[in-house]
Amino acid sequence: MSAKALKQSLQKGGLNFKNRVFMAPMTRSRASEQKPNDLMVEYYSQRASAGLIFTEASQVSPQGVGYIFTPGIHTEEQARGWKKVTQAVHERGGQIFLQLWHVGRVSHPDFHGGKLPVAPSALAFKGQAYTTSGPKDVVTPRALEISEIKSIVSDFKKAAQLAKQSGFDGVEVHGANGYLPAQFLEDGSNVRTDEYGGNLENRARFLLEVTGAVMEVWGPERVSVRLSPRNPLNGMSDSNPEETYLHLVRELEKMKLGILHVLEPSTLPNAIAPLAPKMREIFSGLLILNLGYSQQTADETIAKGLADAISFGTHFIANPDLPERFEKGIPLATPDRATMYGGTAKGYTDYPKAGGL
Ligand SMILES: Cc1cc2nc3c(=O)[nH]c(=O)nc-3n(C[C@H](O)[C@H](O)[C@H](O)COP(=O)(O)O)c2cc1C
Repeated sequence: MSAKALKQSLQKGGLNFKNRVFMAPMTRSRASEQKPNDLMVEYYSQRASAGLIFTEASQVSPQGVGYIFTPGIHTEEQARGWKKVTQAVHERGGQIFLQLWHVGRVSHPDFHGGKLPVAPSALAFKGQAYTTSGPKDVVTPRALEISEIKSIVSDFKKAAQLAKQSGFDGVEVHGANGYLPAQFLEDGSNVRTDEYGGNLENRARFLLEVTGAVMEVWGPERVSVRLSPRNPLNGMSDSNPEETYLHLVRELEKMKLGILHVLEPSTLPNAIAPLAPKMREIFSGLLILNLGYSQQTADETIAKGLADAISFGTHFIANPDLPERFEKGIPLATPDRATMYGGTAKGYTDYPKAGGL
């Protein structure tokens, strides 16, 4: 593949992508009472030139919420709001997957009528939740009962059905960044002794069950799983990330998962061997890599065959026309950090395209 690998189209698993510049999921905290609104319609449609858009994480149930102004995907009204988003993106020739989310312990009783957030185990981490009355220290969560775990799996499935009703092209299970599926997977947050904890097979069970349930709705090709091995965000740790994550990817491959979306820094210290190339050997579906990529490192990574596409997060905030800018060598705008989360159109839909259109 040429050095301009990013602009090549991609056909895999019945899906067709016009380029390999994908938009990474980004929480922008501008939903109205957990419902997607017209401002979000505008924001996503402005970015329809991406090969694929992943939406911001969207809670699959009231229990799955942990941040203010994030959208949900568990009511008909929310689905109607999302439908406007998907229609606008499709009208502009884009494709869009919804990211499905349950935060687990990364929440606060303020979101749950004073009740404790839930997690695989009653283990706290040091951190803060952003509630309506400002940042508050997180609390020790309550360990889930087995019957509750099963009902969360069905919440993911119901959310996947609503996503289909909303006209999405597929869905992504948010298994990264220390939220509920990752809390089950990594042994620093899971000390259960039943079938959802202890050995690796058991710790992987929740994420695999969720993925399987979502695949029943979408088929394997239109399901993505996002993972972030060795990411300490939200107090995460695992005693053997390589073993844990490669086991998981082997299982996902057996299930014929369509898309794997891995956050791993594009440059790692020499002492740390990246896991993505090992995942690439195991996984035969579409592999998307993310985290700290530039146009050049992204092009090189795809050209070397280490990934099929690269997703960009922060670059897409201030550059709605990122694929065109890459292609034409137009300098990139820098996003304003103060307006990343929450607020109005400022710092959201007011970043112009290069031509000022
Ligand atoms: C404002 C912001 C919100 C984010 N929200 C999410 C999210 O909802 N889901 C998710 O999986 N990752 C989220 N991320 C992580 C990004 O998807 C991506 O992994 C990160 O920005 C690194 O990619 P980059 O170097 O291209 O920016 C967020 C990142 C930013 C900057």
